[in-house]
Parts: sequence; structure tokens; C-alpha cells
Amino acid sequence: MLTTAEIQELVATRMSQMDWTKEPKDLYAPVEYVLSLGGKRLRPLLTLMACNVFCEEVEGALMPALAVEVFHNFTLLHDDVMDKAPIRRGKPTVHNKWNENVAILSGDAMLVKAYEFFAKMPEDKLSRSLTVFTQTALEVCEGQQYDMEFEHRNDVTEKEYLKMIRLKTAVLLAGALKIGAIIGGANDQDASRLYDFGINIGLAFQLKDDLLDVYGDAKTFGKQIGGDILCNKKTFLLINALRYADLQQRNELNHWLAATDYNPQEKIAAVTALYDATGVKFLTEQRMDQYLDKALQLLDELHRSERTSQLASLAQRLMNRTL
Ligand code: IPE
Ligand code: IPE
Ligand code: MG
Ligand code: MG
Ligand code: MG
Repeated sequence: MLTTAEIQELVATRMSQMDWTKEPKDLYAPVEYVLSLGGKRLRPLLTLMACNVFCEEVEGALMPALAVEVFHNFTLLHDDVMDKAPIRRGKPTVHNKWNENVAILSGDAMLVKAYEFFAKMPEDKLSRSLTVFTQTALEVCEGQQYDMEFEHRNDVTEKEYLKMIRLKTAVLLAGALKIGAIIGGANDQDASRLYDFGINIGLAFQLKDDLLDVYGDAKTFGKQIGGDILCNKKTFLLINALRYADLQQRNELNHWLAATDYNPQEKIAAVTALYDATGVKFLTEQRMDQYLDKALQLLDELHRSERTSQLASLAQRLMNRTL
């Protein structure tokens, strides 16, 4: 069995061997740019680790794993346009460095390349895997649409929020795992268990992302701190701040949600102070831990602890991340 570090090395090597030096330059250079900035490369790691739970040989899952990472990076290019994000992975976002049209079209090209890479897998596993990949990809779009719609609503419930993050984030982690499991030869029940493990770490992962967006360190996080606050994103923090605020705090929050002419840093500071005052950071951490516990419990149900222990420690590390 491979160690997590060995799989990460394998992913890094194969990612760096991709050749994006094609014409037109402004279509492919942004792809090379965003992929070279790395990121955690979590999703291909999950695909290969899941495959390795059921099979010693992970080569068959390598191209699909890379495909999932290219797909993820495509969603980031478009997400950054939608979220008006200036910085990603510590560098200017593609639409910021080039322009929005470039980010849209380079993103489209990445989606197409993701499918091309994905198809390079053992033929007997392709049909089942492709069904998962396609459904997942569509669900990410559904989640992203809810995320955008929620910016303009102030009555989003926790339940709606959880559905939204399951779609925009959790299903891709879950799908990455399930695809790896399928290629590794897992039966349907075990593949589904890993999928559910992925949903739970995915929910916790997005809760952590929401926390870091407010409380992270810009240098390590690599994204603008307070971006969600400026977009009026209906995060777990905001939904619960509205819920637990007293009358004056709620009025203040609503003032900032409705404000059109303001100093961005002032809004971020004021809303963060309201999060502090309402104690929603702790609440979010608590919920994150619940999803992590549930995830670890699902992993136990596979009854292969000697082969899933690395996935368990990865899940735990993700909750303590700073990037
Ligand atoms: C960012 O994903 C988008 C979310 C789902 C929060 P990651 O946090 O995995 O980003 P990278 O790939 O490591 O940069
Ligand atoms: C992540 O949502 C979902 C996707 C990119 C599909 P965010 O908008 O929170 O991700 P970041 O914080 O920009 O990475
Ligand atoms: Mg974003
Ligand atoms: Mg977004
Ligand atoms: Mg975010």
C-alpha cells in the first residue's frame, strides 16, 4: 500500500508533466498558470487513496484522478469570476490577471480536457465511473447556482445552506472517492460508504473554508479574507449570526447586508465583530467536528481499518488546516 506522501508525490509529478504550451496562448496559459500554483490537490489524492483501499495497483485511477483535479480547477476559474475574487493560491485570479472572458473560456477548455483525461481508464470501469463523474459535475453547477441565488436572500435556512454546500463542494470529494473505489474494484456498498464518508468530510471542509474566509491568515489561506462577507454569502456563520443576534445586532447585520456604498474593510471588520459577539465561530467548529465524527464512523463501517487509517488521518488534518 502507498503512503499518503507517496501518492501526493505521484500526483505532483504527473500534474507537472502536463503540457499546456499550445496556441492560442490566452486559452492555455491560464490553465498552466492556475495548475502550476498547486493548491492542496486533495481530490486526486482522495481518488487514488480510495482506489488503494481496494487494490494494490493505482495506475488505472491516475488519469481519472488528474481529471478530477483539472475539473476542480475549472470550477475555481468560474467561481472566482462569480465571487469577484481577486486572489487565489496567493496570486491574482485568472480573470484579474487576464480578463473575465479568458477565465470563462479557459475554464471551458479545462472542463473538456477533464473529460478527455477521465476517459483514459480501464474500459470495464468507465461506464460506472462516468455516471458518477457526470452527475457530480452537474450537481456542482446546481450548488453554485444556489450559492449565487442566496446572495440576494436574507432568509436562507441552515437546511438550505447545507444542501447548497453538499452540492457545490461535498459531492466532488465524495465523487472523487467513489470513482477511485470503483476503479479499485470495490463493490457497490463499499463504494457508497466511501461516497458518504466524502459527503461528510466535504460538508466539514466547506464549513472550515467559510471559517478561514473570515478568520484565516491571508498569507497562508491564499485568498482574500472577508470575501464572503463582501458578497453577502449565506455562510453557516452568517445564518447563525442572524439567528442568535439580539435586536440591535440583527439590525446592524441587516444594515450591512443592505449597504450599497461602504468601505469594504469597514464592513468586514463590523460583520466579523458581530460574528464574534454572537459566538458563531464556536458553533461552526462544533458542527464541523460532528461531520468529521460521522465521516470517521462511516469509514469504520468498511471494516478495513488497516487500509483506511490514512484516509482517517487525512480527514482529521483537513479540519486543522490553515489553507
Ligand atoms: C476550494 O477548494 C474550493 C472549495 C471547495 C472550498 P480547495 O480548498 O481544495 O482549493 P485548492 O485546490 O487547495 O486550492
Ligand atoms: C467553493 O465555494 C465551491 C466551488 C468552487 C465549486 P467557495 O466560493 O467558497 O470557494 P473558494 O473559497 O472561492 O475557494
Ligand atoms: Mg469563491
Ligand atoms: Mg463561490
Ligand atoms: Mg470559500
